[in-house]
Amino acid sequence: MSPSLSRPVTAVPAVDAARLLRRIDQLGNIGRDLVSGGVSRVGFGAADREARGYLIEEARKAGLAAAVDAAGNIIIRASAGGAADGRPALLMGSHLDTVVNGGRLDGAYGMLTALEVVETWEESGIEGRYEPVAIAFSNEEGALFPQPFFGSMAVAGRLGGLPPEPRDHQERSLRGPLAEVGGDLDSLADAAWPEGALAAYVEVHIEQGPVLERRGSRIGVVDGISGRSVSTVEIQGSAGHAGTTPMEKRQDALTAAARVILTAEGIARDRGLCRVATVGWLDLHPNSPNTIAETVRLTVDLRDTDARRMDDAEAALRDALRAVSAETGTAVAVVARTRSEPVATSVELRAAIEESARELGLPYETLPSGAGHDAQIIATVAPVGMIFVPSIGGVSHVPEEDTAPADLVAGAQVLLHTALRAAGARPRT
Ligand code: GLV
Ligand code: MN
Ligand code: MN
Repeated sequence: MSPSLSRPVTAVPAVDAARLLRRIDQLGNIGRDLVSGGVSRVGFGAADREARGYLIEEARKAGLAAAVDAAGNIIIRASAGGAADGRPALLMGSHLDTVVNGGRLDGAYGMLTALEVVETWEESGIEGRYEPVAIAFSNEEGALFPQPFFGSMAVAGRLGGLPPEPRDHQERSLRGPLAEVGGDLDSLADAAWPEGALAAYVEVHIEQGPVLERRGSRIGVVDGISGRSVSTVEIQGSAGHAGTTPMEKRQDALTAAARVILTAEGIARDRGLCRVATVGWLDLHPNSPNTIAETVRLTVDLRDTDARRMDDAEAALRDALRAVSAETGTAVAVVARTRSEPVATSVELRAAIEESARELGLPYETLPSGAGHDAQIIATVAPVGMIFVPSIGGVSHVPEEDTAPADLVAGAQVLLHTALRAAGARPRT
């Protein structure tokens, strides 16, 4: 990033608000439950595939090239055939996958904003020293395949820690679903970007929290992103008859799980070892009202902006699992764990976002992100920036997730200004 970040960009075009809002509505109908209004597009599932098809089609209709890499990431650029044009990329994007029964904006908004900015930039006849590129990262949420940030980790060349044959909670391999979207499990290393190819990454996202709305700010300038540790815990007890097995003879996996859940909550709530702790997923066998539970699998999600505090929280969880095992006579083990580190965003990109918000007359403020984002993975290989827009009621990962249309458009315009500023853009001569 260079000193030109502080120079205003002359004659910045406007994003096409109607086009952006139309696409947000259309994409929001893919995987939408008509009763709850929630959107379910778990990564590599059928609705995710439909959303991928929609994005590729929209990009092609706009005259852009869309390619899919080995990790299933969709990469959109203007150059003929979709090959890099020789300039380092100014990458923008987010994800298309969602949690189960989530909202229509988490990920989708940032992705469509990135497409809108690449399209507007190309239409405008402006050129810069970086190539504008949009990317839809695969499986950011990890709702079906518990490898969140899968696509961004591949781009950053950081998939080494994952199992060679990633599987979902039902032990189904990722191989087939990945191939169906155009990826290839055996070539994941090819998805890593070579050194020098990536100048910077900027992601627009809904805030997913209450800060901007409460303070009347239209734009959030993200200074740091929380780390996230997700452990899949397996508790193995013994099945037995609910009416005849004496209480002192039981190894009940579900009551052991209850202890794990409350202890995990206490790690954050009572002991303050990390900012938040959540058990949001649990699978139970045989799940029969009159049989003692034999096996439970659950996930423990621990988050903090300080890596040492995450270490402490993880250590407390390990101690708790040992204690629960001893108290209940069950076998308790962590069978999978993923961790993304807390990161700081680029100071220069923050300044560019602030400058752009000022230029556009939008009140802004600096805040950290409690949620995880692909940006924190890309931060390990390139400078990253994040732009937030307000979430109505501060809610996300629920069907009610929403943002005022004017704020959606404002976020896109700030991204365009920021990207042009970062690329030292000028009108084409
Ligand atoms: C991603 O959405 C997260 O859980 O933070
Ligand atoms: Mn999310
Ligand atoms: Mn997201």
